[in-house]
Amino acid sequence: MTRVGILTSGGDCPGLNAVIRGAVLKGTTVHGQEFVGFRDGWRGLVEGDVMELDRPTVRGLSHQGGTILGTSRFGPYQGPSGGSENIARTLERLGIDAVIAIGGEGTAAASQRLYDEGIRIVGVPKTIDNDLDQTDYTFGFDTAVEVATEAIDRLRTTGNSHKRCMVLEVMGRGAGWIALHSGTAGGAHAILIPEFPESIEQICAWVASVRERGRSPMVVVAEGFTLPDMTHAHSTKGLDGFDRPRLGGIGEVLAPIIEERTGIETRATVLGHIQRGGVPTAFDRVLATRLGMAVTDLVDRQEWGNMVALHGTDIVSVHFDEALADHKTVPVERYQEMRVIFG
Ligand code: F6P
Repeated sequence: MTRVGILTSGGDCPGLNAVIRGAVLKGTTVHGQEFVGFRDGWRGLVEGDVMELDRPTVRGLSHQGGTILGTSRFGPYQGPSGGSENIARTLERLGIDAVIAIGGEGTAAASQRLYDEGIRIVGVPKTIDNDLDQTDYTFGFDTAVEVATEAIDRLRTTGNSHKRCMVLEVMGRGAGWIALHSGTAGGAHAILIPEFPESIEQICAWVASVRERGRSPMVVVAEGFTLPDMTHAHSTKGLDGFDRPRLGGIGEVLAPIIEERTGIETRATVLGHIQRGGVPTAFDRVLATRLGMAVTDLVDRQEWGNMVALHGTDIVSVHFDEALADHKTVPVERYQEMRVIFG
C-alpha cells in the first residue's frame, strides 16, 4: 500500500481542506492509498511531525476554511533537519512513499528542487492571488473576489450617504487579479494594479469626473500598486523577504492625496486577511475537490515532479518547471478592456 504525506504551505487559502478531503477520499477508495498529514507545511515534513489522515478525519471538510494541517512559510531546506537527504531519511523512517505539496509559487519551486534531488513529490497549485502560471484559476481566488466584491457593495452605500470617495485596498502584491475581478464585479470607477502604472493626475481625473456626475467615486487598488514617482515608498521587507506594506498600505497613501487634490472627502479601507479566511465559495470547493482527487492519480501513475492544474474545464497534469517558467500577471489587454470605462 502506498503511504502518502500531504502538506499545505505558504499563506492559507479557502479550499485547502477540500483538497485534503478529495485526496483522502479518492486515494483510499480508488487507489488503495493511505494518508498522513505533515503539520505546519514543510516544517512537519522536515521535523517528521505527522498526523493520521483517514476518512473520518476528513468528513465534512469541504466547506471549512483554513487548513486542518496548519501552514507556515518554513522552507524544506531550512533548519538542521532540512534538505533533500535528511527529508529522504525522514520519509523512510515514517514509511512514507510520496509527498503531495499544496502551495503557491514558492512551494512549487521547492518541490521542483526536491524532485530534482530524488524525492517522490507531486503538487496542487494554491493561491488566492491567481498568479500561478499553467492553471486557468487557482482555488481561493473566487472566494477572495466574492469577499472583496461584497466589501465594495458595502462601501458604496456608506460612500453614497456621505458623498465620499471610497478607496478599497485588496490583496495582490505581484498581480492584480483580485482587484481587477472584484473591481469589475463591484463597478469600481478606477482599478489600480501592480502591472500598470497610473499617475496620480489620472486617478484624480477619474475621481473628479465621477463626482461631476453626482456620484460617489469608488477606487479599488491592489496592495502591490505603486505610484510611478514613489516606488516602494510605502513598503518594507518582511521577515520572509517579501515587500510588506507599511502602515498604511497603498490605500492609505492614496486616500489623503486624492482628498487633497480633488477636494472630495476620501476614506481608505484595507481588506487584508478577511479575503483569505472563512468558507470557500461553491466554485472553489468544486475546483479544490477535483484537484485533490486528481493529484492521487499522479501518485498512482508515479508522475513525480508534476502538479495538477485547471485547463478550461479539465484537470490536467503539468511539470513544476513549466508552471514556474512565468508569473501569471494581468495581460495588458485585460486591463485596457476595463480601463476604457473608468471614471
Ligand atoms: O500570496 C497570497 C497573499 O495573500 C498576498 O496577496 C499577500 O500579500 C500575502 O499573501 C500576505 O501574506 P501573509 O500571510 O504573510 O500576511
